Amino acid sequence: MESAMRSLLSDNSRYVESFRVFLKNSTEHQCMQQFIETKLPEVISSIGNEKSTLDVLGIGSGSGEIDLQMLSKIQAKYPGILINNNIVEPSAEQIFCYKERVAKTPDLDNITFSWHKKTSTEYEHQVNEQKEYRKYDFIHMIQMLYYVKDVPATLKFFRSCLSPNGKLLIILVSGESGWSTLWKKYGPRLPLNDLCLYITAGDITDMLRSMGAQYKSYDLPSDMDITGCFIEGDRNGELLLDFLTETCDFKKNAPSDLRDQIMKDLQSPECSTTKDGKIIFNNNLSVVVVGNE
Ligand SMILES: C[S@@+](CC[C@H](N)C(=O)[O-])C[C@H]1O[C@@H](n2cnc3c(N)ncnc32)[C@H](O)[C@@H]1O
Repeated sequence: MESAMRSLLSDNSRYVESFRVFLKNSTEHQCMQQFIETKLPEVISSIGNEKSTLDVLGIGSGSGEIDLQMLSKIQAKYPGILINNNIVEPSAEQIFCYKERVAKTPDLDNITFSWHKKTSTEYEHQVNEQKEYRKYDFIHMIQMLYYVKDVPATLKFFRSCLSPNGKLLIILVSGESGWSTLWKKYGPRLPLNDLCLYITAGDITDMLRSMGAQYKSYDLPSDMDITGCFIEGDRNGELLLDFLTETCDFKKNAPSDLRDQIMKDLQSPECSTTKDGKIIFNNNLSVVVVGNE
């Protein structure tokens, strides 16, 4: 890895800003919303069997936009049920936004919220130290496993937290996305460190198979307008480029040969298509649902 580059995650406020630009320029949350509307009811169809309370755990929930939509589907499926919603999220800024969102959202009466300002590994350590082995009916990890050091151990731990009918839902970029192309080619030259792994949903299903876990996958087609990355001085384009490379101020800090190659490849058919003069990056995602078998 080139020395002047550092991971975007080492600057939390730039990370959060880049993530917001990414959400604005992509259909990331829209395709998740569509999944929640059309497929989530089937995924959660048995998690609440014969229960008066449901325990939900969100890992890396960010500002909770997708969490609240999933909770609303759970409420619709199990009217009147009490939901204990726990959130494990290391960013104080994201937790603040999540709390603001909850305060503004109607119809959350039967839901309690408990935020744990921790990484998933810190949470796992706490559970093991306090020997409080709570079971959850629904656990989700949406676009966060990139930031976990030992993914197989994390999967094993959170599977062990599932109640008998519980489900673990994971969303990551698809192995057929532009991200996968970019990471396979440039991962070793980007700030791959303790903070970020270039993994895709394909890697997760390989791990689950080798653990003998049963799972079901769903494809979520998604795209992202990256035209701004090619406009000189476009701040949102620069933030998007940071998000794509997981690098803080990539345009300024990357060596020119790497920057030129990545800028070229971002426009190649393996990563993007051109539509109406716009460069559209392949942001396809996959959902992997794991049961407690
Ligand atoms: C790409 S965002 C996804 C947020 C949300 N799930 C969504 O899809 O909108 C990744 C989130 O994971 C959190 N995160 C980073 N490292 C983490 C870790 N080790 N354990 C748990 N969450 C982590 C970040 O703070 C951030 O909120």
